This record gives sequence, C-alpha cells and structure tokens, in this order.
Amino acid sequence: MRSTVPSAGAASTRQAQPVALVSGQRARGGPAQTSTSRSPFQVPATSCSKRCAFARLRGSQQRASVKTAAFQGAEDDFAASANDMTEARILVVTSGKGGVGKTTSSANLGMSIARLGYKVCLIDADIGLRNLDLLLGLENRILYTAIDILDGECRLDQALIRDKRWKNLSLLSMSRNRQRYNVTRAHMVQLCEAIIALGYQFIVLDCPAGIDVGFINAISPAKEALIVTTPEITSIRDADRVAGLLEANGIYNVKLLVNRVRPDMIQKNDMMSVKDVQEMLGIPLLGAIPEDPQVIISTNRGEPLVLQKQLSLSGIAFENAARRLIGKQDYFVDLNNPQKGLFQKLGEMFQN
Ligand SMILES: Nc1ncnc2c1ncn2[C@@H]1O[C@H](COP(=O)(O)OP(=O)(O)O)[C@@H](O)[C@H]1O
Ligand SMILES: [Mg+2]
Repeated sequence: MRSTVPSAGAASTRQAQPVALVSGQRARGGPAQTSTSRSPFQVPATSCSKRCAFARLRGSQQRASVKTAAFQGAEDDFAASANDMTEARILVVTSGKGGVGKTTSSANLGMSIARLGYKVCLIDADIGLRNLDLLLGLENRILYTAIDILDGECRLDQALIRDKRWKNLSLLSMSRNRQRYNVTRAHMVQLCEAIIALGYQFIVLDCPAGIDVGFINAISPAKEALIVTTPEITSIRDADRVAGLLEANGIYNVKLLVNRVRPDMIQKNDMMSVKDVQEMLGIPLLGAIPEDPQVIISTNRGEPLVLQKQLSLSGIAFENAARRLIGKQDYFVDLNNPQKGLFQKLGEMFQN
C-alpha cells in the first residue's frame, strides 16, 4: 500500500493529513509496552561475568561487511544530490516522553542519511546520560566531549568521533556520564555553526527527555524537528506539548515518527493506528517503525539496524524514513505488507 504525501522538506502546518499505513480504531489505554533491552550501564562495575557477557554480545557482531545490498547501486545517485545540497540541515529528534525511541531513531536515521552520501554529525545532547555512542558501537572511542571543547581542553575535530564503517558519519557527545556544565543555548548554536563550518551537511540532535533546560538547549540550533511518539496516549500527549513548544520557539518544520507500532494489536483495536496518531497530533508523518526485537539486538551489538545485511522490517522502515527526510522517496513502507525499496531490490539482484 503506498500513499503519496507532501515533500518531507515542506514547512509544517499542524493539520490532519491523510495517510494509510495500518488501519484500526483508536483505543485508549491499550496494554503498555515495555522495553526488554538491557543497557550495559546496568552492569555493575564489579560484575565481571556480566561484563564478559556484554563483551561477548558485542564480539558476536559481524562488522566486516557493512555495505548491505540496500544501498548498492543507489549510492552514486544520492551522492550527487548530497553534493548539490546548499544549506546544512539541523534536525532535532525529540518527544517529551522518555524511552519512546529518540536515540534509536537518531542513530538509524543518521546512519542511513550518511550512507546516502551526506556528511552527517550526530549530537548526543543529553548532558549526564549519554547513550547514542552505545547504539553506534562508538563508546570506547570517546576521548573528548563538547564540554571539553567549551572548557578549552580540546578542539572540535578532536571531539568528533568518525564512524569507521561510514566515514561521513561523526558523533559528538555533549558530556561524559556525570560530567556537568552550564551549557547555554548560545553554546549549542556556536557548536552547530562550527560543525557546519567543517563541511557537515546534516546535524541530527538527539534530544534528552523532558521539556526543561536540556530540551531548550537541544532545540535552540535546530531548524527542523522530528517528533517521535509511540501509539500510546501518554506519549501522544507529551508529543503534542512538545509540538506546541517547538512552534513557540520558531521551529515550524516538524515531522512525526510513530515508533513501536504493532499491526496485530491495531487489527484487534488494542492500539491506535498510525493514521489515528497522526490525525490526533496534526503533524505531517515521516514514517512509522514497527515494534521489533531486532531493535534490542542492534542496540546491544552497537550496530544500527540499517547496517544489517538482511534488513529487518524496522530497518527497512528507518531507511524509508531517511529517504523521505531527504526528499528522495514519497511513499511509506506498509507495515502489513512490507516491500523493499526499488534500489534495495536492484542491489540484491546484482549481489546474487
Ligand atoms: N521499534 C522498536 N521495537 C522494539 N524496541 C524498541 C523500538 N524502539 C525503541 N525500542 C527500545 O526502547 C527503548 C528506548 O529506546 P530509546 O531509543 O533509548 O528511547 P529514548 O531515546 O526516547 O529514551 C530501548 O530499549 C530500545 O531498544
Ligand atoms: Mg535517548
């Protein structure tokens, strides 16, 4: 099922927009979804066996071939558009509510956009509780953070961690865990200006949860926003509040990503459909990501879903959202009948 929507680059107007991804009735108070993923932060420093288990998990990944079929043959085309890009884009990924998938979305969208030929910088804007580095498998390479730059301890290029798999993707963490600093809106703006001066075309800011100072700092340099929500009433209410705050802060180009969608529950009227969520919020839809155990596996391995050799449905959905974000695809992946993109199919044909 495909439905055409306005270009992802168009300015946001908070209006209901007809979409057809998965259908169903709105259901208040469906069963809460819980996360079963295990953060390595939960491992006590003294627990050797648990640490070893984590290392095994990480070691089991196969990083050798990261050029999946999905992008074979498509890269040249996108590289050309990346070169044509005149103005850098600064996107903040936000939600209000915690645990809805901001970091997962930032990592996968950032990686996808980098693979499409753009020079991307991911910023973990959470001061004191970073975790984007873990999702990208870059946690052991962070020597300096943005706070070290502000302290004059290092240069910007020293704090930017280049992904070894895709060199046009870099990560900047705002702080080490427990590192504190009075970061201001002006600091965030200066930081992004300096990153753009280094030639980055896309900055993706992974916003902390809440709507306090961390949120305000993270949205300050942003020109556009992606609101992530799950199809739960609590998350939707927070998303609505955040949408209002973004507008009040002059960010009008806002898109919606509905995460942890379960078509089986929607069919039984136990979960709101993507269409219902979109209509309630009145924000143009960028995409919908299904609930998928692969998300947890990829988090634990430090390998974004979009790098997997055999893309899972959530990987395909993230890839689709990334393409829509750069205006290269105007249809949605149908979560009930997932079809791989044309480029992916072609790539696989050539690989086999
Ligand atoms: N589509 C999904 N399917 C299954 N688990 C998910 C999905 N999206 C996120 N998660 C899990 O939800 C938890 C919170 O995700 P995260 O991206 O850290 O949220 P946030 O940054 O908003 O706090 C993580 O354990 C992650 O693995
Ligand atoms: Mg997060």
